[in-house]
Amino acid sequence: MLSVVTMIDKKTILENIPEAIDKIAYPKLGRRNSGKVRDWYIRNNLRILITTDRVSAFDKVVGTVPFRGAVLNKLSQFWFEKTRDIVANHMIGITDPNVMLVSECQALPVEVIVRGHITGVTQTSIWKMYSEGQRIIYGIKFPEGLVKNQKLKKPVITPTTRATGPGGHDEPITAAEIIKKKLVPPNIWRQIEKVARDLFERGTKICQKGGFILADTKYEFGLSKNGKLTLIDEIHTPDSSRLWLKKTYRERFKKGQEVENYDKEIMRIWFKERGYSGKGKAPEIPDSLKVQIATRYMEVYEKITGEKFIIDLKVPPKERILENLSMLI
Ligand SMILES: Nc1ncnc2c1ncn2[C@@H]1O[C@H](COP(=O)(O)OP(=O)(O)OP(=O)(O)O)[C@@H](O)[C@H]1O
Ligand SMILES: [Mg+2]
Repeated sequence: MLSVVTMIDKKTILENIPEAIDKIAYPKLGRRNSGKVRDWYIRNNLRILITTDRVSAFDKVVGTVPFRGAVLNKLSQFWFEKTRDIVANHMIGITDPNVMLVSECQALPVEVIVRGHITGVTQTSIWKMYSEGQRIIYGIKFPEGLVKNQKLKKPVITPTTRATGPGGHDEPITAAEIIKKKLVPPNIWRQIEKVARDLFERGTKICQKGGFILADTKYEFGLSKNGKLTLIDEIHTPDSSRLWLKKTYRERFKKGQEVENYDKEIMRIWFKERGYSGKGKAPEIPDSLKVQIATRYMEVYEKITGEKFIIDLKVPPKERILENLSMLI
């Protein structure tokens, strides 16, 4: 079958702003479920996971950016394939640039954050706590004299509980508390710690080849139907990770300057500068910023995977998704 694959330039992004995917409603598949970024339908033991173009910042949906969902979905696909030997994952296959067919798991109630660098300004970030004088953070002892954005001697695992309900926030928790509160069985938690370190090491190596530092990242795990530890959700995307430009990191760090972010941070900064941090009405993202975000996300995809980001634009994205979903019935 002949299909039109298109390389995405700035003009194409601008033209596609009104086509950005805000949600995918397809009642024939049953009830639509949605998180901040994804919509999904459950069919038997399968989850049809649709990554929309919705943008979330400060735990709120604040707009859409064209092609963002496809980048996130295709990048996760790349990483799931590259890490299969470390841990089983939920991916069965991709049925559209925005859709992944996954096995439905029982999600574990913790998010597993691995950090190779000390940074961040939110309540769960280790730089925030360290700069306020704490030295035992997430049950881990940190040495004196660390500076913002510094590389840690060895990556640390800083779990959080998963926020429940709309607008809920994740809370820091220690490994000991996870066991004590029986959030995760001890043998599974030990397995998670090992797997998370190995995933982070693999991620760091592959990102470096693409010119990025994987400063930190978040993993979500679940148990499959037969109780097997399974990596779920997304992996090593610019939404779930901090990606810094390697080329300028050392120079900037030495001078005490901020690093160059290629992740969600660009959006957080823009909103913060306008006084928005999750409360009240979010300011509308201007087209110029949408173009910048889409361009950055595609650049990340291309540098990490070594492949061009191409997409079929013969049919408008929403229509294309619905057409591809109809084949799953
Ligand atoms: N295979 C799976 N089995 C069960 N749950 C899954 C699986 N894969 C992903 N999930 C869950 O599906 C949801 C995906 O939606 P989404 O990413 O929009 O959620 P969110 O966490 O609210 O948003 P954000 O990523 O902005 O924090 C998450 O709650 C995630 O934990
Ligand atoms: Mg999520």
